[in-house]
Amino acid sequence: MSELRLNAVSFAYEHAPGAARVLDRVTLGVAKGEFVVVLGQSGSGKTSLLNLAAGFLEPTEGRVTLDGKAVSGPSADRAVVFQDDALFAWSNARDNVAFPLRLRGASRDERKRRADALLADVGLAGQGGKAIWELSGGMRQRVGIARALAAEPEFLLMDEPLGALDAMTRDQMQELLLTIWSRSNTGALLITHSVEEALFLATRVVVLAAHPGRIALEQNFDFGRRFLAGEKARALKSEPEFVAAREALIAAIHDPAYAVAA
Ligand SMILES: Nc1ncnc2c1ncn2[C@@H]1O[C@H](COP(=O)(O)OP(=O)(O)OP(=O)(O)O)[C@@H](O)[C@H]1O
Ligand SMILES: [Mg+2]
Repeated sequence: MSELRLNAVSFAYEHAPGAARVLDRVTLGVAKGEFVVVLGQSGSGKTSLLNLAAGFLEPTEGRVTLDGKAVSGPSADRAVVFQDDALFAWSNARDNVAFPLRLRGASRDERKRRADALLADVGLAGQGGKAIWELSGGMRQRVGIARALAAEPEFLLMDEPLGALDAMTRDQMQELLLTIWSRSNTGALLITHSVEEALFLATRVVVLAAHPGRIALEQNFDFGRRFLAGEKARALKSEPEFVAAREALIAAIHDPAYAVAA
């Protein structure tokens, strides 16, 4: 079983002795087939944590490993979806999705076939020829996710990928993310500010405390798996068990005991 792991990772943006730590001894594993969602106040180090897992940043202390081997920089086995879609505005949806395939040297026919199949997977069948400016925000977000999947990553790292969407599109995208995740058998690490989103998607929720960022709480959930097994999203999200878990997580995020003054 493939696993991406942060082992007692501490991190400071400045290297001067005594510089404030953004993350303090964070140990967190994401195995293939898991969906780990990170919650925490603004500034608690969520994006820093994701950038460490992606290999964009190096730990000040501790190690990031993939199957026990140290991660040294970004790689196609860990695809990243940013909040701002970061699509290439000058090319169409298909060419955006096909970009990782081009890097890999796939033939023109192969690229078109794979990109169109991926676009269909995210609900954009037949839209490959559209320019990026012709797509809505939700559609762009889906192109970004399809592009991340094109590299067939083992791990999908997402920083507030649905943050900019309206409530209804966001609910639909959550369902789509679960479906794609279960079909592609990746390990997912997702950051969100929405507690409801975290509960619905996660096999495990991690709450970060702030200043310095450290793990305050880790808890397993199965609402997403139940959705995939056929239960209705609205029904799950209004279950007493879901509502109670939501309130408990909100309390944990805002509990001053978790936030030591910086
Ligand atoms: N490039 C940087 N250089 C210096 N400090 C930074 C940098 N990026 C982030 N920080 C600091 O590190 C801390 C954690 O930031 P980070 O972006 O990881 O938080 P976050 O939990 O993702 O916050 P948000 O919810 O607002 O996105 C903050 O105090 C922030 O000011
Ligand atoms: Mg952030």
